[in-house]
Amino acid sequence: MTRNQTPQASPKASLKQHCRQEAETASLAKRLAASIERFIGQERGVHFNISLEGDLGAGKTTFARHLIQSLGYGGKVKSPTYTLCEPYLLHSNQHAYTAHHFDLYRMRDPLEWQEAGFVEHFDVPGFCLIEWPEKAEGTLPAFDIQIQLTAGAEENDRTIAINALSEQGKKIVEVIQVDS
Ligand SMILES: Nc1ncnc2c1ncn2[C@@H]1O[C@H](COP(=O)(O)OP(=O)(O)OP(=O)(O)O)[C@@H](O)[C@H]1O
Ligand SMILES: [Mg+2]
Repeated sequence: MTRNQTPQASPKASLKQHCRQEAETASLAKRLAASIERFIGQERGVHFNISLEGDLGAGKTTFARHLIQSLGYGGKVKSPTYTLCEPYLLHSNQHAYTAHHFDLYRMRDPLEWQEAGFVEHFDVPGFCLIEWPEKAEGTLPAFDIQIQLTAGAEENDRTIAINALSEQGKKIVEVIQVDS
């Protein structure tokens, strides 16, 4: 398994957006979802990994919720704070794929995710979306896309950067529609 090297090199494609309220974050997540659906439709059976980075309360789960719901999941998307991982079965053009949403904040050991049997989730068609990847201390597979959320001066202000870290990630990030 390729180990995740925290990237020092500049991203292969990137986008940064200032979101003044949650609705704007939701809109960005929706545009990423459209790009993901297109990619999954083109490259059947593909798997990729997305990190969600930012301080407590930055909006990682909120972004994940809007992304997963924009991909067609009709139920609740709860924070996987205690379960560490929640799976969401999704469909694109009659092809099933799974989004595994992780929150590794409460891991007591960097390898707890492996002991819990989550390694297999990194192979199945779909993607892994991981909050607090730093808690795994570099033991996770490589990321294709890195999402960084930073709070601004105003309460609902966030800056969200989406960086492609691999050729796969680039195919998704470079076709995200910019907000008009
Ligand atoms: N522009 C915005 N984008 C995202 N969330 C926002 C925005 N403005 C306000 N919020 C609020 O900020 C909170 C973010 O909480 P959330 O649980 O998503 O953070 P988190 O980064 O997942 O935290 P944790 O590290 O504890 O998992 C939510 O209550 C959300 O409604
Ligand atoms: Mg969270």
